[in-house]
Order: sequence, then structure tokens, then C-alpha cells
Amino acid sequence: MVQWFVPGPVPVTQKTQAACAGEMVSHRSTAFRELYAECTLRLQRVFQTKGIIFSITGSGTLANEAAVANLLPDTKALFLVNGEFGDRFYQAAKVYNPDAQIFTVDDGLGLNVARVKDAIDEKKPDWVCMVHNETATGVTNDVRGIAAYAKKAGAKVLVDAVSSLGGIELDMDGWGIDACTSASQKSLCAPPGLGFVALNEAAMAHIEEQPRIPTYGLNLKTYKKFHLKNETPYTPALPTFYGLREALRELESEGLANRWLEHTAAAQKAREAVIESGFTNFAEAGFESETITAFLPGDARVDVIKKAMAALGIQIAGGQGKWKGKMLRIATIGPGEARNIDACTTALKKACTASDTAQSASAQHILQAGAAANKPEVLAA
Ligand SMILES: Cc1ncc(COP(=O)(O)O)c(C=O)c1O
Repeated sequence: MVQWFVPGPVPVTQKTQAACAGEMVSHRSTAFRELYAECTLRLQRVFQTKGIIFSITGSGTLANEAAVANLLPDTKALFLVNGEFGDRFYQAAKVYNPDAQIFTVDDGLGLNVARVKDAIDEKKPDWVCMVHNETATGVTNDVRGIAAYAKKAGAKVLVDAVSSLGGIELDMDGWGIDACTSASQKSLCAPPGLGFVALNEAAMAHIEEQPRIPTYGLNLKTYKKFHLKNETPYTPALPTFYGLREALRELESEGLANRWLEHTAAAQKAREAVIESGFTNFAEAGFESETITAFLPGDARVDVIKKAMAALGIQIAGGQGKWKGKMLRIATIGPGEARNIDACTTALKKACTASDTAQSASAQHILQAGAAANKPEVLAA
């Protein structure tokens, strides 16, 4: 069986998988309203917010699009970007607000107050927008510090927590985040199919004051009308809702802080294995992600290592955007029982040794023996 160390969809527990087979009820039924209400309440605890949370059928991209389409038109928005997903967030915003501004630092570097304060001071934005955990490079940004700075500068804060929520500490209300997005299939350990937009009172009020919301299917004023009845305006991804409820129950019974610690421990092992294999972690020290470990093994070795690991039954991810064909990423997202990090680090070390002489008998041996045993699917870099 292949073990997945890719950044979503992540492996879910057997109970979560089984829960997805729940009965297909109407989304105007009491059964659905109960399901929705429980998911919303539990999501509030994970986002750590008393605010409103909209569950949108779709993925993280759609949640981000809903956020920028409803919050950013006719505002001064500043995007702080240090990777592919930050850039995609900005590109989505430009569809609804062509004047949205961008401030970038090099991929791999973290975003913190020292690096972004001049941009905030100079641009004086209404909204500061950023990704918490840059999945493309394995960098976690200092959202807490930047949100506090942005607040003092009079800006509201919008954060993409798609690959962090549930796996890395995030405290929406405590850190002063006004709007925060995420998705079901990453650190919440639920199946794909739902994106989330969490809004505090100020962010919701801002939307309600907008005379024009330039989207129909993602209009959060419409979502709110139905949310007040514990319903969605349109047909929801019901199997994902069932899976999400079970995944959130499991998360709570394990404890949110315990989940963070579990991710910290797994990522620590992944980073150590990268170093023991002779490489350097891509993320700047102090900004390493607990859900994604990225490294550059040298272009010629990327495919060899990935294939040799796949042959050992371990699927890791390649690079994205400008890092395609150059980077490898180990995702440590998901419940521990569904993910064996020691098997992954052992395979990495074996694959790296084999890749020293890519055409060597050793590499061929691993590829052939593993291929026979696992018949792995080899994903594109
Ligand atoms: C930080 C971040 N934002 C947004 C997205 C887009 O999410 P989705 O693929 O669910 O649309 C991803 C996906 O990996 C992500 O990691």
C-alpha cells in the first residue's frame, strides 16, 4: 500500500472514511441542519473564533475567491507574498480589485514584521492579506506579529490558512485576524470538498455594507441568510460534511494543541532526515513549516529520489510553479495513525543513497523490488 506524504488530500482515518457514506439527505432537512451546526461549532473551536464561518462546497481556492470577492472590492488591499500560493491569492484578488498591491520577498524567506513594516507604512492598506503556511516552499509566516502590526496601522487582516488550520497553531480572534480561509482536505484531516471562510464581526459588517458584491455563487450575504438557518444556499458536498464532522470530533478528542505537537514532531523528523541525507531545508531557519518540509536535491536527482521512494511505497510531492522539477516536499499533514513518518524518513535516506549513483545497481534494485511489491503510482514532479 502506498503511504501519502503529499500536501492534500491527506489520508483520513477509517472512521472518517466510513462516515462519508452517510445517508444523502436534503440540505433543507433537520438532519442536515444538525450536521451543519455541529461542523460550524467545531470549526469555530479550531479557528479559535466566535465569528461566523461559511462552509462553501469547493476547495481552498474557492474559499479564497469568496473572501477576496466579498471583502476587497473598492478597498486598498496589500498582499504579502513569498511563494506560489501567496501569488495565487493575489491573482484571485486582482480579478475583483485590479488595484490590489503586492509586496514580495524571496521564496524560502519568511514574512515577519521587520520585513513588511515599511510596505504597510508606505501603502497604508485597508486590508493586509497573506498566506499563513506557504505550502509551495514549506515556510510558515509570522501571521501573529504581522496581524498585530497591521492592526496598529489601521488595517484589517485576511489570512489563507489552507494548509495550516488544525496542524499549526493559529488563533484567529486572539491574533486579531479579521478573515481567515481554509479547506477540509489538509490539516483538518477530512476529505476534499469544502472550503471555509471565517469572518469576525468587523469583516462581516464590512461585507454587509458593500452596495455591490461582484459574484453570484459566492455572495456571502446570501450565504449568511442560509447560515442563520444552519443551511447552505446551494447543494452542499454532503459526503464531505459527514467526513468533516467525524474528523473534527477526532481532532477535538485528541486535542488541538496535541495535534499541533504531533505535526511539530513529524516535521522535525522530516527536517532531520533531509539533513542526514546531505541536503539543506529550503525554509529560512525559524520559519520552517510543521506541515511541509521542502528541499532542493539538485535537478538531476529529483525524479530519481521521488521514484525510488515511490518504489518503497512512499509518495512525496514535487515542486510547484518555478520549483517544478527542482524541489521535493514531504507533507507531514494528517493524523499520526494514518501516517508513519519513520517509514518516510527511512525511505528518503535509502532513496538518497541510491540516487548518489542514479544508474547504479542499488538504485535499480530498489526500483525493481519496490515496483513489484507496491505498484506505486508515480505523480508528476
Ligand atoms: C496555502 C494554500 N492556499 C490555497 C490552496 C488551494 O487550495 P485547493 O487546492 O484546495 O483549491 C492551497 C493548496 O494546496 C494551499 O496550500
